[in-house]
Amino acid sequence: MCFSRRLAWGTQENALARAEAERRASGLPFFDLTLSNPTLAELPYPVHAIAQAFANPAVATYQPSPRGLAQARAAVAADYARRGARVDADAIVLTASSSESYALLFKLLGDPGQAVLVPEPSYPLFDYLAALEGLVPRPYRLAFDGRWHVDFASLNFHNVAALVVVSPNNPTGSYISVEDCDHLAELAARHGVAIIADEVFADFPLAPSPDAVTAVSGRQLSALTFSLGGLSKASGLPQMKLGWIAATGPRSLVEPALASLELVADTYLSVGTPVQLALPRLLDLGADIRHAIQTRIVRNRAALASSIDASSPCTLLPAEAGWSAIVRVPEIMSDEEWALRLVRDDGVLVQPGYFFDLRLGATLVVSLLAPPAIFDHGIACVLAAASRA
Ligand SMILES: Cc1ncc(COP(=O)(O)O)c(C=O)c1O
Repeated sequence: MCFSRRLAWGTQENALARAEAERRASGLPFFDLTLSNPTLAELPYPVHAIAQAFANPAVATYQPSPRGLAQARAAVAADYARRGARVDADAIVLTASSSESYALLFKLLGDPGQAVLVPEPSYPLFDYLAALEGLVPRPYRLAFDGRWHVDFASLNFHNVAALVVVSPNNPTGSYISVEDCDHLAELAARHGVAIIADEVFADFPLAPSPDAVTAVSGRQLSALTFSLGGLSKASGLPQMKLGWIAATGPRSLVEPALASLELVADTYLSVGTPVQLALPRLLDLGADIRHAIQTRIVRNRAALASSIDASSPCTLLPAEAGWSAIVRVPEIMSDEEWALRLVRDDGVLVQPGYFFDLRLGATLVVSLLAPPAIFDHGIACVLAAASRA
């Protein structure tokens, strides 16, 4: 049986996944510092109010709507206004998740074989999302000199379908700066390439620089721009499967883009009616959930920062936002070997930096979402292992 070449990356389990499975099966204590699902992070969710948001007789009727129900899109536009960005409800298209938003936009923008410019280091899923649409991910580098910025020399616009900007980026926690954002937009406009601005972590600022672009959607860029957001991160509700795309930029480009995007969305009609009807209420409830997540990440980051003092062999990289922290460990072995050792010896699961194409020696990425007792123990094990090294 032949499967599509789009699936060429294979299905083998990596060594870390095998070591994790062995540790879990052993019944020994396990400390997951890779947790990215907020609903499993022991946070106080308003569970009854969430259930109540669906108690609406209208959920019994199917209301197909390619861009999404008008009242749901209006609620998303109001949510942009909360972040200081003016986005027209008619320029919003609802999707089942940010991952699906990428898939729809790649269908809209690319022909098979074209490249998608993706930042590196960043979230590894983009490579798969592009490949599944027959597109080729082409990295451009983000350079670190105490702060992350775009390495413009690494951008190659030959045969490009789209340029992905992730702000705040995962796992670097860096916002794009005003200067980098405007320069990227000029280049994209000049090459007739649209920008996909992934802002799923924009609601979790830690220490934004004064020149950080905290809402790409709020800047009138010279390039056609699609900003992505969703309930998954902004309201801590990934199980709802609801994301959105907001189109901004020159009007002459936005209108035809939305008409074609509507055709793509109409082909699938993948967003459920109940979640669209519940959306205004879920966005309201999101404020408290977001607050609980923010309190957790601020607490865990502060605990991490205070446990790494000047005498420690580890360093904590600065971050402006987001749910992840990057810890540099002694380069006596690779980051994969560090991660394997930690899960085998201590039952502590972290992600090696190479998963994200981080190239700063040996780095480990930890999630700031983990419950404090698990987080503190896991970090103590990482630091003890580094001190022994
Ligand atoms: C930067 C970034 N974009 C998008 C996603 C996917 O979001 P969603 O759950 O809405 O598909 C993630 C998930 O962690 C992410 O880190």
